[in-house]
Amino acid sequence: MDDERAVAPEERKPLRRNLLLGAMFGMGAAIGTALGLPAVIYLFFSPKSRKPSEWTEAGGIAAIPPNAPVEIAFHRKRVDGWKVVSEKTTAWVVKHPDNTVTAFGPQCTHLGCAYHWTEAGSGFLCPCHTSLFSIDGKVLSGPAPRPLDRYDTKIEAGKLFIGRLRPSVETRA
Ligand code: FES
Repeated sequence: MDDERAVAPEERKPLRRNLLLGAMFGMGAAIGTALGLPAVIYLFFSPKSRKPSEWTEAGGIAAIPPNAPVEIAFHRKRVDGWKVVSEKTTAWVVKHPDNTVTAFGPQCTHLGCAYHWTEAGSGFLCPCHTSLFSIDGKVLSGPAPRPLDRYDTKIEAGKLFIGRLRPSVETRA
């Protein structure tokens, strides 16, 4: 109580002004941080640094009959600039008698048309320019310049995981 009386009113003004200035700068700093933090997160923690897994689960392999190719559809995540997009794609999957699996990319290696396994089982036929591929992806006839592209594959607990699509490099003789 004696201290209050000891400070003259004109001496209290600078103290009050300093408190108000401190509060204003504090609020400004808090607002600046609140607005700037999302920008910092956007810049330094972009989707590129949160790369999606290379492997996509494409279902169980128990129901796939050996040496009878089936087309399997699956969704995989892809980084497109700042966005991570989920896109539907397919693979032609061949299960071998020893339970290993080969998965081919869905596009013909000539001009990219979608091909299919023939009902007669004579191979993968592309309807655009009639390229024919064997069950192991090799070119049997037609203008396709190289075998079918293959996905990386792995099997875990009876489930097929599909990885990166590897372009084939072998050329026709
Ligand atoms: S695109 Fe398949 S044969 Fe031409």
